[in-house]
Amino acid sequence: MDQVKIGRFIAEMRKQQNLTQREFAEILGISDKTVSKWECGNGMPELSFMYPICNILKINLNELFSGEKLADADYKKKAEENMITLVKETENMKKNIVGGQVLGCVDTIEMDICEVHKTNVEFWSTIGNEFLGAAALPSWGGLFPSEDKLKLLGSFSDKKVLEIGCGNGHSMKYAADMGAAELWGLDISAKQIERAENFLKAQGINAKFVCSPMENKCELPNDYFDLVYSVYGIGWTTDLDKTFKHIHMYMKKGGVFVFGWSHPIHKCVSVENDKLIFSNSYFNEEWYCADMGDKKIMLSNRMLSTYINALADNGFVIEKLIEATDPEKAAASNNDFGRKALMLPTVFAIKARKV
Ligand SMILES: C[S@@+](CC[C@H](N)C(=O)[O-])C[C@H]1O[C@@H](n2cnc3c(N)ncnc32)[C@H](O)[C@@H]1O
Repeated sequence: MDQVKIGRFIAEMRKQQNLTQREFAEILGISDKTVSKWECGNGMPELSFMYPICNILKINLNELFSGEKLADADYKKKAEENMITLVKETENMKKNIVGGQVLGCVDTIEMDICEVHKTNVEFWSTIGNEFLGAAALPSWGGLFPSEDKLKLLGSFSDKKVLEIGCGNGHSMKYAADMGAAELWGLDISAKQIERAENFLKAQGINAKFVCSPMENKCELPNDYFDLVYSVYGIGWTTDLDKTFKHIHMYMKKGGVFVFGWSHPIHKCVSVENDKLIFSNSYFNEEWYCADMGDKKIMLSNRMLSTYINALADNGFVIEKLIEATDPEKAAASNNDFGRKALMLPTVFAIKARKV
C-alpha cells in the first residue's frame, strides 16, 4: 500500500466533506494527531477504522486502499491488486519481533499510560522473566558483545549505583560483585522488586528499592548517583523525555548513564527464506499491543534518533553509541536470528554523561 498516496487521498476527501482534522478525528473517536499522521503518510489507519473512514468520506474500501477515486472500468483490477497487497502486508504486520523471537500478532493502539502500566506490570509480575528471558549484566542482551568486552560502565568501586527496571535483580548482583558501594533498584512491578530483594538477600547483598514507573518523579534522592544503568529497561517507558529528565536529576554532575535496548532497525526486518526483508517502517513509532502467551505487552518502537535527541534535550552528552553483534555468538547460534544479527544490529547501547 502506498501510505503517502492514501494519506493525501484521505486529506483531499476529508476537505471535500468540509471537515477539519479535529472534526474528522472526533467522529472516529481518536486524536487529531493520528489523523495528521495518516495524512502525512506516516502511518495507516487500523483495519477497524477503515470502514468508518469510508462511510464518513463517502468512498469505498477499494478507493481507500488505492488512494484515488476509481472509474468502474478500473474497479475489478484494482480490487484484485489491493487484496493481494493487503494479504501480504497483514502477514508481515503480524510478525511481532521481541528480543530474538518472532511471536504472536500485533495490534496498533492509542497509548493510554494507565493501560500500558497495568498490562506491562501484569506481564512482568507473572510470566515476563521466563517468557522473554530477562537480560542481565554482563549481557546487554541478545547477540550483543558483553559488558566484560565493552566496559561501558567503567569501575563500580565506591560508586552509588542505580538500575532502572531492575527486574529480578540479576544485573544488580553483577554490580555488587563488581564492587558497587551502594546499590539501588527501581522497577514498576512490586513482584519483581520482591524477587530482586529475596535474590540479593540470599547472596548477602544489601540494596534499596523503589517501586515506581521510571517516567514519574519518585522518592529517589537528587544529585546522588555516580552510575545509572538499565538493561532492557528504558524502552518500557511511556515518556522518554520525563524518564531522562528524572534520571538526570538523580545523578551527580559528571555521573555516567548507560542503557541498552533492542535496536529499532531489528524490529523492521524479518528473515524469510534466507533473505532479510523490510516488514515494518523504521519511522513507525506507534504503540502496539502484542500477545505473549496468555498475557500481553504494550510497547512502541522508537528510532535511535528519538533516544539520542531525548538525552541531549535533558542535559546529557553522549559519549558512545554501540551498534554491534558478537560474531562468534551469532555464528554459534546457527538460526535466523543469528544470520540476521550478522547483517544488522539487534541491540544498541548508549553511554551518556550528566553535564
Ligand atoms: C527486561 S526486564 C529487566 C531485567 C533486568 N535488567 C535484570 O537484570 O534482571 C524489564 C523490567 O522493566 C520493568 N518495567 C516495565 N515498565 C516499567 C516502567 N514504566 N518503569 C519502571 N520499570 C518498568 C519491568 O517490570 C521489568 O522488571
